[in-house]
Amino acid sequence: MSRKRIVAGNWKMNMTPAETTAFIAKLRPLVDNTEVDVVLCVPAIDIIPAMTATRGTNIEIGAQNMHFEENGAYTGEIAPGMLTDAGVKYVILGHSERREYNHETDEVLNKKVKKAFEHGLTPILCCGETLEQRNKGITLDFIRMQIKSDLAGVPASDVEEMVIAYEPIWAIGTGETATSAQAEEVCKAIRECIAEIYSEGTAERVRIQYGGSVNAANAKELFSQPDIDGGLVGGASLKPDFGKIVNC
Ligand code: PGA
Repeated sequence: MSRKRIVAGNWKMNMTPAETTAFIAKLRPLVDNTEVDVVLCVPAIDIIPAMTATRGTNIEIGAQNMHFEENGAYTGEIAPGMLTDAGVKYVILGHSERREYNHETDEVLNKKVKKAFEHGLTPILCCGETLEQRNKGITLDFIRMQIKSDLAGVPASDVEEMVIAYEPIWAIGTGETATSAQAEEVCKAIRECIAEIYSEGTAERVRIQYGGSVNAANAKELFSQPDIDGGLVGGASLKPDFGKIVNC
């Protein structure tokens, strides 16, 4: 079975609303490719201008985080219903920066994954090991633990629709990309883990991205690995180079 590729930009804490409008106007013709799902995960305040700037295009908008409650006394948070009302389709969950700086645990992420599906949002669930874990040889054990915890109780029909992003922490923003063999080894292991928990069919359908210093020069080789269905792109998604990554 062939999975549709998905390339998502993770803008992190970059771009003002005005910059969002101007950047997307330039990016639109460069990513006009319907063979790939193209997503921009933008800061919350940029969601509305990004929706306006991408109207009538193949670009979908994603958020970078979401709370697991419907609404309430959670100052500074954003509710799933707010995202869907604005037209958001995807939400990054469990990015390593949020796990580290905002202390997001697998338990909380499990609630977020379930809540995203309740609202028809597609999670882009991130996992990835530290350099220390890689050097100790526990990468695959750690990733399997993250996947099993974050997906506990999530039905197969949801998992088939979601996106998992493998992002080795040592490769994020460092310019040090995992080799295509390293990236493929872990993405394959994630698919095997999904097959083990669910079924071969579910594992065949779930889309798995690689993220971590993806750029226009290395994307093609990474994305041509059998278990890598596209990328989650940080730094390079803030430049017109993102177009080259989408089209590679
Ligand atoms: P990077 O970030 O491409 O800048 O390494 C990737 C990510 O954190 O999603």
